[in-house]
Amino acid sequence: MKDFKTIDDFDVRGKRVLIRVDLNVPMTSGEVADAIRIERTVPTIKELLAKGASVIVMSHLGRPKGKVVPEMSLKPVGRALARVLGREVSFAGDCIGPAAADAVAAAGPGGVALLENLRFHPEEEANDPAFAGKLAELGHLYVNDAFSCAHRAHASTAAIASLLPAAAGRLMEAELKALTDALDHAARPLMAIVGGAKVSTKVAVLGNLVRKVDVLAIGGGMANTFLAAQGIDVGKSLNERDMADTAGEIMARATESGCEIALPIDAVVARELKEGAATQTVMLDRVPADSMILDVGPASVADLTARLKRARTLVWNGPLGAFETPPFDRATNAIAREAAALTRAGKLVSVAGGGDTVAALARSRTMDDFSYVTMAGGAFLEWLEGRELPGIAALKGGDA
Ligand code: 3PG
Ligand code: MG
Repeated sequence: MKDFKTIDDFDVRGKRVLIRVDLNVPMTSGEVADAIRIERTVPTIKELLAKGASVIVMSHLGRPKGKVVPEMSLKPVGRALARVLGREVSFAGDCIGPAAADAVAAAGPGGVALLENLRFHPEEEANDPAFAGKLAELGHLYVNDAFSCAHRAHASTAAIASLLPAAAGRLMEAELKALTDALDHAARPLMAIVGGAKVSTKVAVLGNLVRKVDVLAIGGGMANTFLAAQGIDVGKSLNERDMADTAGEIMARATESGCEIALPIDAVVARELKEGAATQTVMLDRVPADSMILDVGPASVADLTARLKRARTLVWNGPLGAFETPPFDRATNAIAREAAALTRAGKLVSVAGGGDTVAALARSRTMDDFSYVTMAGGAFLEWLEGRELPGIAALKGGDA
């Protein structure tokens, strides 16, 4: 049983549906650099249009901090949205007031309007009810299709849900289903791989995961902190000394919960983090004093591969090495390809997310083979922490 409404619960014919999506896309010289978030938004919009609704699209772009910042206008994103939708999108130069009302009128019944960046108004991030009211005036129904913004309690993700009948969009539904199936109703063994630079940014994620998963593999810079906490000399590697106790506590908690922690066995080291730098592969008791660990080594990849083969579900966040600088992308690519192949063979359910992880999967061309790749960054991390996301909570209680 679902605990929030979906668009199946509403008759949208002839209605104006206000939909919150995440069009926070990367921009290069004023144009959309990567349209994947736009593409993922389109099915819900098309379904609403096919059912006879008009659609008013709301989003933020960047962090303009409550001021009009022309470079963060959604106007060029509107052009990209029109291309992907294959129809006209009427653009409103302001997300509230007469400009918004005019654009909605211009779109007309069955049309699409896009409102200017919500964060040009400070009231958006303040979750201001009066501002939410001005947004709500524009439509009859509210749909939230932005899981990736659900960790924000903002006017367009939280306050508005109690002002209009509210439902989750198809992308939100798919995202929640994929993530819940992977972590809360997972086929076991359930393995998590957590990488990235720092333990300090993922303490809560690690703390939650050790209670839920069977195997937690730790890679990336953060693995060094765990290794150092066990008395291993990591040379000049990134190592958060003040996190040693935390690392120890996470290990202890894992033991209590019956979660096995998989740390690297060997490492690829170099004196500098530079493309094509001279590297050495060493066991962990041989890290040279003048070098840095920049990737996990082949023995670690073999160990992770064997563990992946035994697992039935994988949740992955964070690269295993400094993947943006080859050759320190090798382990991340190898594990991505292994997980992709196992998924294709029907032996693994694989869910991945986070900005760096998505970039790494895109580079290794494995993204399409994963069971689900979420475009959410911060929201995915907070969800991995086991926190209730305000945007989801608002939908559950947000029935006007
Ligand atoms: C994201 O890109 O993670 C979302 O769009 C949220 O953006 P924010 O971190 O600026 O709130
Ligand atoms: Mg972010």
